[in-house]
Amino acid sequence: MGRFFFFLVVFFLCILWIPSIVLQSKPVSALPLYTDSRWIVDDEGQRVKLACVNWASHMEAVVAEGLSKQPMDAISKRIKSMGFNCVRLTWPLFLATNDSLASLTVRQSFQSLGLSESVVGIQANNPSIVDLPLLQAFQAVVSSLGANNVMVILDNHISKPGWCCSNSDRNGFFGDQYFNPDLWIEGLTRMATIFNGVDNVVGMSLRNELRGPRQNVYDWYRYMQKGAEAVHAANPDVLVILSGLNYGKDLSFLHNQPVDLTFTGKLVYETHWYGFSDGMAWESGNPNQVCGRVVDNMMRLSGFLLEQGWPLFLSEFGIDLRGTSVNDNRYMNCFSAVAAELDLDWALWTLAGSYYMREGVTGLNENFGVLDWNWCDTRNAFFLQRISALQSPFRGPGLSQTRLHKLIFHPSTGLCVLRKSLQEPLRLGPCTDSDGWNYTPQKTLTVQGTYFCLQAQDLGKPARLGIVCSRSGSKWETASDSKMHLSTELDSGATVCLDVDSTNTIVTNTCKCISRDDMCDPGSQWFKLVDSTRSSSSTESF
Ligand SMILES: *[C@@H]1O[C@H](CO)[C@@H](O)[C@H](O)[C@H]1NC(C)=O
Repeated sequence: MGRFFFFLVVFFLCILWIPSIVLQSKPVSALPLYTDSRWIVDDEGQRVKLACVNWASHMEAVVAEGLSKQPMDAISKRIKSMGFNCVRLTWPLFLATNDSLASLTVRQSFQSLGLSESVVGIQANNPSIVDLPLLQAFQAVVSSLGANNVMVILDNHISKPGWCCSNSDRNGFFGDQYFNPDLWIEGLTRMATIFNGVDNVVGMSLRNELRGPRQNVYDWYRYMQKGAEAVHAANPDVLVILSGLNYGKDLSFLHNQPVDLTFTGKLVYETHWYGFSDGMAWESGNPNQVCGRVVDNMMRLSGFLLEQGWPLFLSEFGIDLRGTSVNDNRYMNCFSAVAAELDLDWALWTLAGSYYMREGVTGLNENFGVLDWNWCDTRNAFFLQRISALQSPFRGPGLSQTRLHKLIFHPSTGLCVLRKSLQEPLRLGPCTDSDGWNYTPQKTLTVQGTYFCLQAQDLGKPARLGIVCSRSGSKWETASDSKMHLSTELDSGATVCLDVDSTNTIVTNTCKCISRDDMCDPGSQWFKLVDSTRSSSSTESF
């Protein structure tokens, strides 16, 4: 009986997963969006942080994934309830350029691939689209997201429908077999036109992950500028989003030559960054060294654009959510710190718990998917906690602001160092509850508006707040190649690092893996001092 009740509850949770937060959420910002230096802002000049999830609709069936598992409205609500405000919705070019493809019905498309089970699933969960042409089914997904206040970025992911990407898939660069530049301009124009006037479509990614033997800088400028102009002419409301060479990661050529466009206030760049972007370096190297090196490289290839005053949308990142990949776990700690420090706009790869068919496998399970195989539950709740601090802006134009301060962000948990009272130990908690900290020229970490500073007591002991900020254990250096250890010297002369124990209490321990050790993981000792003007939701004081 008890067990039956449990299943009943789970069953209903899955059907009625509309948390109250969705019903209360305020409408999306005043659209359309613009750029203001490196920030994306709304029509009133207030920062809008893109916290998106990728939703694939570019594979063989050319139907947004998951619609055989759950109603699209439920999926849209689920996206919102997980804290995302936007979807990067992928589409294959041929959906917009091949009328016989676009006019196939959803049913016909699945049937032609032998995916009759998916037809049954769509019939059950989304009967209203089963006999719609593919293009109209795509529009229905955009509408459903709009009805739930979810913004959409249309991403031209590939030309020929299918899993992306490889150097030899002939979809990689202008001039490849499936990548005729004129046809591409035609398809972008068509898509931009179709969604002109659809408010929640806020941006278009011109092309995903340019790559392969044909790639070159000359053609990049030639065609990307043409594509950008075409999209803007057809739909002046969307942000025009450009990605670089070498799987979208390399925009370094913009150091020397900016793009030349007739319009302003709409241009955004995008890049991708995964653990596997650096092979198995994270697992085989020292994480402090790898993080330092990989971040330097990312800044050189794309991150510099922020300093030049362009928004940079990190439109794909993600990890194996089973949590078993050492490479991914180490990368994710480093990635989260950077995403917080730079307060990036981003899109997680990926929403899909499973695919209708991927690379020939029917119903393939997606270990990077935030939803589980049934598109019912979340795959890894802890991961959602980790990214939740990144979902709202730390700073930017027009936000309700307090004085600039630091948050002490702990990337491996997604939490921040909080103080409750002088007596209680410092602990990790939601960043939204954090006081502001100042990192002073004397390298003390003080609670803004007070005389209290962070102090180490002893090895293995909780850190605490004190007022004699000149005493040993009060001066914090950012140590190691990752610059993410906060280290200090005790009376005894020993150096200790800020750390977290199993109860999330802030303690100090011997610094981990500062030098060459490749086997150890310093993640618990990684902290990032993040600039913020967010006001704290807890106003508790001494
Ligand atoms: C257009 O789409 C149809 C249906 O999928 C396909 O058979 C045909 O080969 C496509 N044509 C081109 C030029 O890609």
